[in-house]
Amino acid sequence: MRSHGCGDLRNDAIGVDVRLCGWVDRRRDHGGVIFIDLRDRSGTVQITVDPDLAPTAFAVAERLRNETVLRVEGTVRARPAESVNERLATGAIEVLATAITVLNEVRGNLPFPVSIHDEENTREELRLRHRYLDLRRERMGRNLRLRHATVRAARAYLEGEGFIEVETPVLTRSTPEGARDYLVPSRVCGGEWFALPQSPQLFKQLLMVGGIERYYQLARCFRDEDLRADRQPEFTQLDMEMSFMDQEDILALNEGLIAAIWKAVKGIELPRPFPRLTWHEAMARYGTDRPDTRYGMELTDVSDIARDMGFKVFSGAVAAGGSVKCIAVAGGNEAVSNVRIKPGGDVFSEAQKAGAGGLAFIRVRAGGEIDTIGAIKDNLSEQKKAELLARTGATEGTLLLFGAGDTATVNKALDRVRQYLARELGLVKPERDNDQWNFLWVVDFPMFEHNAEENRLEALHHPFCAPNPDDLGDDPAGWSEALPTARAVAYDLVLNGLELGGGSLRIHDSALQRQVLQTIGLPQQEAERQFGFLMEALDMGAPPHGGIAYGMDRIVMLLAGEESIRDTIAFPKTQQARCLLTQAPADVTDAQLAELHVASTWEAEDAG
Ligand code: AMO
Repeated sequence: MRSHGCGDLRNDAIGVDVRLCGWVDRRRDHGGVIFIDLRDRSGTVQITVDPDLAPTAFAVAERLRNETVLRVEGTVRARPAESVNERLATGAIEVLATAITVLNEVRGNLPFPVSIHDEENTREELRLRHRYLDLRRERMGRNLRLRHATVRAARAYLEGEGFIEVETPVLTRSTPEGARDYLVPSRVCGGEWFALPQSPQLFKQLLMVGGIERYYQLARCFRDEDLRADRQPEFTQLDMEMSFMDQEDILALNEGLIAAIWKAVKGIELPRPFPRLTWHEAMARYGTDRPDTRYGMELTDVSDIARDMGFKVFSGAVAAGGSVKCIAVAGGNEAVSNVRIKPGGDVFSEAQKAGAGGLAFIRVRAGGEIDTIGAIKDNLSEQKKAELLARTGATEGTLLLFGAGDTATVNKALDRVRQYLARELGLVKPERDNDQWNFLWVVDFPMFEHNAEENRLEALHHPFCAPNPDDLGDDPAGWSEALPTARAVAYDLVLNGLELGGGSLRIHDSALQRQVLQTIGLPQQEAERQFGFLMEALDMGAPPHGGIAYGMDRIVMLLAGEESIRDTIAFPKTQQARCLLTQAPADVTDAQLAELHVASTWEAEDAG
């Protein structure tokens, strides 16, 4: 049907007879001559239709609407110098049409213009409802091709390292990754349910017991959790597991993988090894386990100075076992007004969204003089002031922003304010223009964190991570006491403040696995019921093993300079976990439910 891609034609095709297929991007009638921008996946080219040279084609062209599907025959010729379009790859030439065939019409109104000329400003809801039209646009096509290139680079690297791809079940048992499960009722086993996998975690460990040694998979995962720009209810992991490798081996191999992807997709040579931070250091310096290290404004703990500065909020926080921390905003006196820090202000509201009551502040003026709220100023001795300025590195013009309270909330609030100000002050470029790739391994995560609501310990990653042997000791009798405060041999890969992936060495000793399940409060019987198959497998010669999984959608999002993973997925779901295109989820018939032995208790809210 066609000889060339629309976007592939250049000067060297001048004089060539071509056959093109594509969509009418737009049509312009220039009094006598009609110009059609014809688009296919390779790009667009200008078709010129002259009524004198091709009267039949001209009659067709006169009636063309945007997005009509065409086949065009014609001859490539140079454009006159004055009409060369520098912004278009094919802008130096045009195709003089000899025949135009309409392959399909557009019936009814287009919900939004598809043309590259009006790409922005379409409501996302409309884009998702008519995703097939949105996919015709340059941006989405580019993102999907970039996604493909990413996957191809990953496969090539892993296969070169001896990994094989193995598929694991989608109808399975619940795996604890911390989110709610999507459940599937069984028709044949009445009253019983499959869970869709939150990750292939247990199966990949079983593959190691099965002697596969190096496994990878582009695995679809399902998590029923609150959605954000970087979270979808179903998403894709680049999932890996390997035997007989320690943490150093695994991190080195993974740096190779990431470097191969960045080289293939961006042509960038990433410096290696990637920097590392322990979890404790990350929390202390950035208030988060996924710090953006493209800029400073690190958190400084000033609890010891602030405890007796005569300011009740500070002294109260420290007395209650919490902390006072601050960030130093260089040039913040100029850039951030008091109105923005006080109730109602944008910076204040960022802190508030993270659970903080407010932000105390000190402004450093000329000669080290300070400006602040009275309570602090009246009581701050020269010595304390000097200590504070020295510790935070504050100089003239610096704004110090303080969080006080329980340490977790202070960390969360200052992390959020830090990220917000970095964007506001232009310390990072918008995603689209980002050219800085600050990779970081966060290592030495704690095994557990305290779940205050349920008053129990909870696995920070998942309960299959191996504890650090240095924290555990050799004697199994000491494990139950040592485990709650032990570090895991776990690592996250962070890029520019986003968690790209996470993994760990795993437990391959069934006794230790039992002990960990007990530590998270799983009664022994329940542990056997849920994970008996794993413990049994561990007892049949499980090799030492470990692995990692990356969020593929997130990797592509950063590579593509997008702000949401929805723009890296062909058919994503909305924040309400709906597919607007197919209108899923949808109701089913009573007969279907009966067959599945399921009854719905749902009552629409407005039904009372
Ligand atoms: P984890 O739960 O950290 O680890 O997930 C690994 C990576 O998957 C991505 N991710 C998501 N991406 C989009 N939408 C979501 N809802 C979503 N949830 C997670 C993140 C994350 O870093 N089995 C372990 C891995 C292992 O230990 O090997 C696991 O699933 O980028």
